[in-house]
Amino acid sequence: MANSSLALAPDQRAALWKRLIERIEEYLAGVDTARVAPLLDAGALRSLLDPYNFNQAQNPLDALDFVAQNCWRHQVHSSHAHYYGLFNPQPSTISIAADALVAAFNPQLAGWSHSPFAVEIEQHLIHAFGVRFGYDRAQCDGTFTSGGAEANHTGVLCALVHAFPEFAREGLRALPAQPVFYVTGQSHHSLLKAARECGLGTDAVREIPLDAGWKMDLSALTSRIQQDRAAGLAPFLIVGTAGTTSAGIVDPLPALADLCARERLWLHVDAAWGGAAVMVPELGAVLAGIERADSITFDAHKWLSVPMGAGIFLTRHRDILDRTFRISTEYMPREAEGMEVTDPYTHSMQWSRRFIGLKVFLTLAVAGWDGYAAAIRHQAAMGDLLRRELGENGWEMVNPTELPVVCFRDCKHAPAIDAGEIARHVVASGKAWLSTIRAPGGGPLLRACITNHRTGPDAIRVLVENLNAARQAVAG
Ligand SMILES: Cc1ncc(COP(=O)(O)O)c(C=O)c1O
Repeated sequence: MANSSLALAPDQRAALWKRLIERIEEYLAGVDTARVAPLLDAGALRSLLDPYNFNQAQNPLDALDFVAQNCWRHQVHSSHAHYYGLFNPQPSTISIAADALVAAFNPQLAGWSHSPFAVEIEQHLIHAFGVRFGYDRAQCDGTFTSGGAEANHTGVLCALVHAFPEFAREGLRALPAQPVFYVTGQSHHSLLKAARECGLGTDAVREIPLDAGWKMDLSALTSRIQQDRAAGLAPFLIVGTAGTTSAGIVDPLPALADLCARERLWLHVDAAWGGAAVMVPELGAVLAGIERADSITFDAHKWLSVPMGAGIFLTRHRDILDRTFRISTEYMPREAEGMEVTDPYTHSMQWSRRFIGLKVFLTLAVAGWDGYAAAIRHQAAMGDLLRRELGENGWEMVNPTELPVVCFRDCKHAPAIDAGEIARHVVASGKAWLSTIRAPGGGPLLRACITNHRTGPDAIRVLVENLNAARQAVAG
């Protein structure tokens, strides 16, 4: 007889699905009543898990309830309207259904012939997003990734293979000079990991200073490239960011594209979060020049409101992923041989792969580009409202961006009340979540990002009231 604890009987399945849907619905309907951030107690969590020695089978409904109950209590709720956080969105409703469907059908996206519908959906999306970013549909290629870090790593690898074709087979030791690439202190730190993962080492990452607008300083960049060439090094890549993690700043993309063309360097634009601005014409102007990037990182699991992980790597070089990742094996299925199709494992770092694109496809199918544009426009408007409310309450805005990440400090007291202390108070209250950053070359700042498409004017007022109360409490 089949093992019934792995495949439950039909009546047990019916009860499980009913309970699952009840728990999900309770969460979606009630998440705003939860503390946004939990009280942290690692010892209590370990005691909670101690009874799980897995020697006895547990009733599936009880196991499900145990997890749902403790997720309620023990996580930061990024689906809360008062989460002003780190680009972690509230997933669209249909994307939650999509992830469940993917788990049930479990399509294998390594080879085309195993899951042709799923692979074609992802290819369709790659082209649709490529075109949105201004790429030529016929020339663009891409792959879904676990997230922005993998997409950035893919970008560094593609740039290496493009600049040094021998790298793919012979590795770094075959190169005539040490390759180096250029970022700023505001670039995402996954690029440092990528440098390690590619065998370059973090010394190969040149951190270019910022200009007064917190963007990559072009003259510093130009002279660093010249210095590096004079020292016998081999510059191969510039990474511009379109929407920095800390402050939502967009590097000067047209000028970076000009420089890359002149210096024959690859331009990778990390638009993991900010790329979503492309959906809204009046915001999309901040991304001007992105169409000239050789490759782009774009994370659907940030501003496109789908669950993790859903990253996208796009490139306008049709053959580069193939040259970077193609391997051939005897054991991969050959049913599609002779057809004009691509096996995703030949264009990606991943092999066995989950159907990442479905949550994006279904959200787009249900909301349309207009639905996304409305959500993004709303979030940008809430960012503007937050800036106004903060300004009226003795807070000074510091980061020069139109995107809805607001970095600010107290300007009611001299010296200013410490941003870290204020953030700790707000987070400990459980009523909102925000973080702190360090201003380039300066002190700590508060950082609030409109991460949730449901965050409205009432939620903005709650945040500002809590900030005012926290400042008062810290000032004593
Ligand atoms: C600009 C930027 N790039 C890359 C990443 C890494 O993305 P992920 O966490 O999806 O790997 C982040 C994460 O916040 C980011 O803000």
